[in-house]
Order: sequence, then structure tokens, then C-alpha cells
Amino acid sequence: MIMEGCSALNPRQASLASRPLAFLFIVLVGSLAVLSAEGHEGLSSNVDSGSSSGLPSLEDGQEDHKRFYKKPDENDHVRKTCKVESGSGGTGGRSDDACPGKPRLVRLAGEQVGHVEELELVPGKTHLLKTINMKPVIFEIPNFFTSEECSHIISLAKEQGLHDSATKSTGNGKGLALRDVNGDQKLSLRELQLTLEDGYDVFLDDDDIRQMYSEIGIDLNSDGFLSRQEVNGKTIGKISTYITKLLEEQPIKKSRFSEQTWIYPDQTEDPLVQSFQDRISKLTQLPQALIDKFSYFQVVHYGKHGHYNAHHDSSFIDESTCCHLTEDKHCRICRFMTIMVYLNDVEEGGETAFPVANNETYNTHVFRQTGMMNLNSRCGDSNLKVHPQQGKAVVWYNHFINNSTGWLGDVDPFTWHGGCPVTKGQKWIMNRWISVSESPDVDLAVALP
Ligand code: OGA
Ligand code: FE2
Repeated sequence: MIMEGCSALNPRQASLASRPLAFLFIVLVGSLAVLSAEGHEGLSSNVDSGSSSGLPSLEDGQEDHKRFYKKPDENDHVRKTCKVESGSGGTGGRSDDACPGKPRLVRLAGEQVGHVEELELVPGKTHLLKTINMKPVIFEIPNFFTSEECSHIISLAKEQGLHDSATKSTGNGKGLALRDVNGDQKLSLRELQLTLEDGYDVFLDDDDIRQMYSEIGIDLNSDGFLSRQEVNGKTIGKISTYITKLLEEQPIKKSRFSEQTWIYPDQTEDPLVQSFQDRISKLTQLPQALIDKFSYFQVVHYGKHGHYNAHHDSSFIDESTCCHLTEDKHCRICRFMTIMVYLNDVEEGGETAFPVANNETYNTHVFRQTGMMNLNSRCGDSNLKVHPQQGKAVVWYNHFINNSTGWLGDVDPFTWHGGCPVTKGQKWIMNRWISVSESPDVDLAVALP
């Protein structure tokens, strides 16, 4: 899957998120569409783009693992050069009003699991910022919102109306690119699974795919491979029709099974929404201009069986422009931070899982190949699970800071996460992402792009 697939994209981004993966060479002419073999590079990861499928793709993280987690400079991304002025310290080594003229992003360091810091996010009130994990760094803030505030946000979302989180339409299959990742001129079950994840917001396991083959009459020798001879011009259309029907009948097969809406603080006078902005600014210690600029947030509702497969909330860095800065559909999602708030108590299930947190031997291929992204069935295998609790915020950094620029650095590959299935009751969350590009000049410019 891919970045929250696209479902986490705001409406403008969502329309942009259907970009083909850069490494795909899709030959839909003739019978079998063949990818150029680029080995593992050919695997896309999920960006929340949300897409557990669906978003602009992330690259595999194994290299990143080596690059970013080598000790002892693991904390290099936390700013060290500009010292904190008295009183502004805390869980993290702040950055930078102390370095005028050189804006730098701030990552709160977290110190160690169990570290707690008191913050005054709302005048006269104390909030606790608790470090619950270090790799990746994850914080919890109980009662970030009061229960009244949570209910209020839910009401705002309901007033606006929510819609299916999946943004990929199954349509006629025109966008479906068969992915022969290893270039052997045939598609394995795994390659077909990747094909489907890229094309649709769906996660099918091997048995699901075999069932599909048998129902639509392909792979007649049942060897689990689609060869050139077994695929003809009608195959894509048949797959597409099958998936459309399957998702109607079994929405649980979706990578992201929820509904959502976007709220734009600059289009509302709502006092809570304004206070939320202030809290974020105090919490993150990021420049106000950054907080104010891309201030929209997402409210998501999961019903029974609602879930969201593992994904990254942001894209790995490449040469494309960040989606929040362009109308170009060849864009990538650039979300430095995620601040996610549970708006209700979930009766059962609905944890936020970080499947590879602290996994020293994590390997993206193994992770993907073994179906670990499928939190709908593999939540129990996750290394870290955060339990929903009304008003609690969960906060993490999707990216490191680039030491030379002081601005957006690479994705932290350990931030794979998703929502476990809600087994009883329902679940409401809000997502607020801090969008940041590699250019402080662009991000901090006063006018919106
Ligand atoms: C998301 C997400 C996790 C959850 O919406 O991007 O990761 O617990 N949600 O719902
Ligand atoms: Fe997410």
C-alpha cells in the first residue's frame, strides 16, 4: 500500500495523488503489461497518502534504515547548535529563535521512553507530553482536547458531511499498471497484489487473488502466475470489474475502510479551531507561519471493521514538488509531523499500530512481503499499539531534519503505522499534519502559494 494512499490527502492533494509510480514502466499495449525490472526499487510503499495504498509512493526503507539509524549520530536531526534560551527548553532541545535569520525546524527529542514534560498549551492548564517510544519518537498527550471539544469537532465534521476515505476509483481499470517487478515476464501473486494496491484502495491476500483468478477465468493452469500467454486485452477490464464488485460487497478488503472530511480553520470562526492552532504552535515550537499556512485538518470516522493498513503519512523525498505547493499531479506528500487526536473512546479495537517500531532487524521487503502492512489481520503482530482514549493526542515526526539545510530531511522509515480494526463500537480521530517542503523561504513566505 501506499501513502495513506490518497485518502489522507486534502481534496486538492487527492486529485493529485494518482500519479503513476516513477519507476513503473507500464506497457499496456498488447497482452501483458510489463514493468521494467528494478528489483526492490519497484516496490512502492504506502503513504497515507495515505494509501495504504494510494498515495504518492514511498520508497523502500532499508537503505534509510542504514542511513538514518546508524549510531552514534542518531540524534543529529535534533538541533544542537543553537542553544535554548532560558525557559524554553524541555523535551526537546528547541531551536530557533536563538538563531536569527536561519530558520530551522524543531524536533522534540523525547529524551527516553517514560519522559514526561509539563506544557501549558491552554492558558492556565497543564498538559503532559509523554514520550512513549524512541524509534521512532512518539509522544502522547492525554486530554489534549476535552470531551466537549472532541464532541464539538465530531459535530463540525458531521455538519459538513463525511465521505468514503478511499480516493482511488476502480473505474474501468484504465489506470491499472501490471507490475512485473522482477522483470521475469510473468506476474506472481505478490506482483498482482502490488498491482492492485497501486491501482485501487484494496488489500488482497494470496487466497483472495486465487479466488479472483478462478472467478474471472485467468491463470487456468492454477500455478499462481500470470504469464503473457494467460493475459489478454480483456484481462484488465475483468480484474477491474471484479474488484469494483468485491469492494462493494466486502468493503473490509479496502486498505482504508473509513469515512472522512476536511476542516479549514481559515474558513471558520470557530473558537476551538483557533485554540487548536495555538496549542499546536506551543507544542511543536515551529514557526507560527508554518502552523498558520496549511492549517486544514482531517476528521475520520471508522465504523465496525473500520481500519487503515500500514502506511507512512509522508512521501520519501524525490525531485518532485510537495503537493501542498503545487497543482501538479506529480507531487509528493510532505508532512513533517503528524498530530492525531482520538475524539472518542473505542469500545474494542481501533488501536494505532506501529508495526516496525523498535525493530532492529526491520527490512522493508520482508515487512511488505509477509503481509505485515495488512493491519486488518496483522495488528496483533505490531510492535507498538497505542490505545484510543478520548482527547488523547499522539504525535510523531514523519521526517528527520536535514542537518545542512535545517529543514525537511528524509522520512523516518520506522514511522509505518495504521489503524487496527474497530471490533466493537466506532472510532473518531482527527489528523493534523504539519506540511513542510525543503525550502524555508517558500514555507515561511507570508502569502499562500
Ligand atoms: C491516518 C492514520 C491511524 C488510526 O489517518 O493517517 O494513520 O489510528 N490513522 O486511525
Ligand atoms: Fe497515518
